[in-house]
Amino acid sequence: MTAYITTPIYYVNAEPHIGHAYTTIVADTYSRFRRLCGDRARFQTGTDEHGEKIAEAAAREGISAAAYADKISAMFRTTWPILACEPDNFIRTTDAKHIETVQRALQAVYDRGDIYFDSYTGLYCRGCERFLTEKELVDGLCPDHRSAPREIAEQNYFFRMSKYQDRLIEHIKNNPDLITPERYRNEVLSFLSEPLEDLCISRPKSRLTWGIELPFDANFVTYVWFDALINYLSGLGYPDDAKFAEFWPVAEHLIAKDILKPHAIYWPTMLMSLGLPLYKKLHVHGYWNNEDAKMSKSLGNVVRPGDLARAYGLDPFRYFALREMSFGLDASFSREAIIARCNSDLSNDLGNLFSRSLSMVKKYAELTVPVPTEVVPVPAIDAELRRTALDMLAAYRQGMADFRFHRALQAVWELVGQANKYIVVVEPWALAKDPKQRPRLDTVLYNLCEALRLLTLVLRPVMPQSAVKMADALGYAPDDAAISSLAVGGAWGVLAAGQKLRDCPALFPRLELVKDEPISGEEIAGKVAIPPATDGLDIAQFRDFDIRVVTITAAERVKKSDKLLRLIVRAPEERVIVSGIGQRYAPEDLVGCQVVAVCNLKPAKLMGITSQGMILTAKDSVNGRERLALVTVTTPTADGASIS
Ligand code: MSP
Repeated sequence: MTAYITTPIYYVNAEPHIGHAYTTIVADTYSRFRRLCGDRARFQTGTDEHGEKIAEAAAREGISAAAYADKISAMFRTTWPILACEPDNFIRTTDAKHIETVQRALQAVYDRGDIYFDSYTGLYCRGCERFLTEKELVDGLCPDHRSAPREIAEQNYFFRMSKYQDRLIEHIKNNPDLITPERYRNEVLSFLSEPLEDLCISRPKSRLTWGIELPFDANFVTYVWFDALINYLSGLGYPDDAKFAEFWPVAEHLIAKDILKPHAIYWPTMLMSLGLPLYKKLHVHGYWNNEDAKMSKSLGNVVRPGDLARAYGLDPFRYFALREMSFGLDASFSREAIIARCNSDLSNDLGNLFSRSLSMVKKYAELTVPVPTEVVPVPAIDAELRRTALDMLAAYRQGMADFRFHRALQAVWELVGQANKYIVVVEPWALAKDPKQRPRLDTVLYNLCEALRLLTLVLRPVMPQSAVKMADALGYAPDDAAISSLAVGGAWGVLAAGQKLRDCPALFPRLELVKDEPISGEEIAGKVAIPPATDGLDIAQFRDFDIRVVTITAAERVKKSDKLLRLIVRAPEERVIVSGIGQRYAPEDLVGCQVVAVCNLKPAKLMGITSQGMILTAKDSVNGRERLALVTVTTPTADGASIS
């Protein structure tokens, strides 16, 4: 089977943000899932570069529209690899091939008598780049852009969309899966219950030159949607390329709810006029808000995907995006949400399962998958693990195929939970003490490794980099069918006994001290110049400082101070340090953290408490506001380790 999944082509009037990233991650995950199913998949994304908004943004920067489009398009193209998104085609509406295809399509529709010239007065929303009907307005404003549309009167070309209204309604009714989730299908049908107006498809060149010239009238350029939607065809080399014949019949478009109408109404009627079959599916998702507020450049709260991947790791970010949003509904992004989700699901549940299981195979079976013994009847707890694994596979396949990623991942975490429970119930460490229990211990370890293999297989489309690490720990080459093909690996008992496992570093370190790092649009400043070093310290003087790694074992606020915390640290002997980090860190977040302290300062009394040292912090400022960050170590380190 084949699959063709597309994202919208993004306007180049703004940098990529979490909303664009979500759609692109979904498309990437889906194409990887289809490959996991053994299908040939093509994934296309790109940039939409013509139109008023872009011409204006370029003018604001004082550069040509083409140069501006080049710059922002490159930002999109280079963002996707940072998120492990690997499109097969990145299309730009300024590509010569695309322009040629748009002109050819316009001519075909024109020749068919579906385009006419007329004068028109309408309410134009620049944000949507289309005319709105009175009914669409809320309090006289565009509901998406909260701005009053402009009344425009001019002569233009129109596409006879209304001619296809009945055919479109019939098609949607006959194909209940065409537009999903169902609420969006209903929305479209309800819109179609009113007479459809024809679609304005041109702009006079006197008003806009940054577009594609109409092949039948050089005084006009085509208006943004007629140009943009055609990308789904031009990216396949329509009409002559073999890719078109192979992939168009299985086209699945992925969009957010903001551009439902162009995709569910304009595009199918355009395809009808072109005499082409309609796309197979339209998947519509909701909107990401930032801490419940709408994201916008002017609010300065746009979340940049590259920043998130760097702060939290690219796989945790992909996982979070897919797990947190119920496909079709809106979701809210916050640092707290991503940290909580990743710490609980990834570090605690999955990461711990992996490291506990591997360390037991190391300790009890020399890092080699043992031979399981089938006993009849199968112990209930083993049967439960196996059943959960098989149920998970079924729910996962269904969820991924239906774009219910949060459901698919919920099912995967059922298996993670069951495997963790398995360890608690069977207590392998107790079995290891009794030589007579050796066959049972071997079976238990085998079962755990097999659960890990299945998790590696199904998580591959979602967290491609971690899956490779997991596969490596389980002794598999990255392309081994057992962890890269659902047909081969999607069953219980595929793992071969005797396989050598490998040590694996922690897969998902806990995210703890990154709480307050800037994620977007903030001015960050540190010290600017290093003073001349001629009068600098002698290295011996530096060595006089006894600087060590210490672990915070207890923390509490100092009474009557909002800044000071009383910390007990292990260095390795215990000591009390009073530190002025109370406005930045909550005491409960610090316990267990390793930080760096100067330990040979003269004891000092702060608010009546003797402090035996000083915790090191870094200081910078965000938007002029001072900010602290604890200095820490990147891997767990012995208490008292010296810093040099
Ligand atoms: N250029 C048109 C699309 C033409 S497709 C033939 C366009 N571009 S856009 O840059 O505005 O991108 C809109 C798409 O970006 C949405 O449909 C969605 O895929 C993604 N998102 C942008 N902001 C978003 C959120 N805040 N939340 C979720 N996705 C959003 O429209």
